[in-house]
Amino acid sequence: MMWLIAGANGQIGRTAASYFQSQSIEFTSFGSQDLDISNLNQVEDVVKSLSPSHILNAAAWTDVDKAEIDHERSLATNAIGPRNLAVSARKVGACLVHVSSDYVFGGGASSPISEVTKANPINYYGITKAQGDENVSIEYPGGSFILRTSWVYSRYGKNFVKSILRKAITSEDDIFVVDDQFGQPTLATDFVKKMHQLCLSDAPMGTYNITSSGSTTWHGFAQEILRLCDFDPERVKPIKSESLDTLAQRPKYSVLSNAKMRGVGLDSMEDWSEAICRSVEEIRQEVEVEIGF
Ligand SMILES: NC(=O)c1ccc[n+]([C@@H]2O[C@H](COP(=O)([O-])OP(=O)(O)OC[C@H]3O[C@@H](n4cnc5c(N)ncnc54)[C@H](OP(=O)(O)O)[C@@H]3O)[C@@H](O)[C@H]2O)c1
Repeated sequence: MMWLIAGANGQIGRTAASYFQSQSIEFTSFGSQDLDISNLNQVEDVVKSLSPSHILNAAAWTDVDKAEIDHERSLATNAIGPRNLAVSARKVGACLVHVSSDYVFGGGASSPISEVTKANPINYYGITKAQGDENVSIEYPGGSFILRTSWVYSRYGKNFVKSILRKAITSEDDIFVVDDQFGQPTLATDFVKKMHQLCLSDAPMGTYNITSSGSTTWHGFAQEILRLCDFDPERVKPIKSESLDTLAQRPKYSVLSNAKMRGVGLDSMEDWSEAICRSVEEIRQEVEVEIGF
């Protein structure tokens, strides 16, 4: 296997690079400065010159609120970029692994959502992510995995776990967090390992959900983070989504079913609470370094 990673400076890009290195898997990674996935000529040149066996598209415009005002950038990165990668991967016969999101769903479900459920996004980020998935499946259905994950966190970049820990460490104030959005916090490392297992398996190409088992609310997740770090979890106070003045609406329920992944012989991922228990100390150390604690 020889991987090309696009979006190398993001959470999943950095986690994948670190995992491939630990497994002595050959890879070349590109940040947005060196490979802008919205630029077809550039993508074609890079893919042709490397001729990788696998391409990981970890690049995306992930600022859900800013996507509401910068439609052009969101569309270029989340919808056109995946199409450019699919076209280029097809030309060299590489397997494209495109990372997608639970936010392609609108939140009206009440039980875990399967891969065959039609996308029905309620914000512009979700609209463009759904378009990206569709573009990949139109351009290169026989050579692409579309992997939907959710509520990603890691020691890298910006994410919910790091911002809750930063608040807990730097102040004694209450922390207000919504308790009416349900999802699956997913550790980037667990996602990358499962993605790699899937690529090594005989699983047919197509769309797969890859998330932690179980589900919670952002409020429940925040309380667990504080509890594990010996802060008082009661500092986390529940609020409703409507009380937040965000530009983008978020789905109230975006829990994904992992039945298809189990059906191709892969084990379920651990429950979200076990994954945060295993990883929170490393993330806390990273936050402490960042704030100079
Ligand atoms: N984070 C989540 O909670 C979450 C949940 C579900 C699914 N996902 C999906 O998981 C994937 C990775 O997310 P993440 O959390 O790792 O995101 P991230 O940390 O925001 O990283 C995304 C990376 O994409 C790069 N990028 C932006 N525009 C680009 C372009 N035109 N060409 C090349 N690179 C570009 C960014 O580069 P710069 O730093 O230079 O801007 C950034 O490093 C995305 O597909 C996302 O939709 C994420």
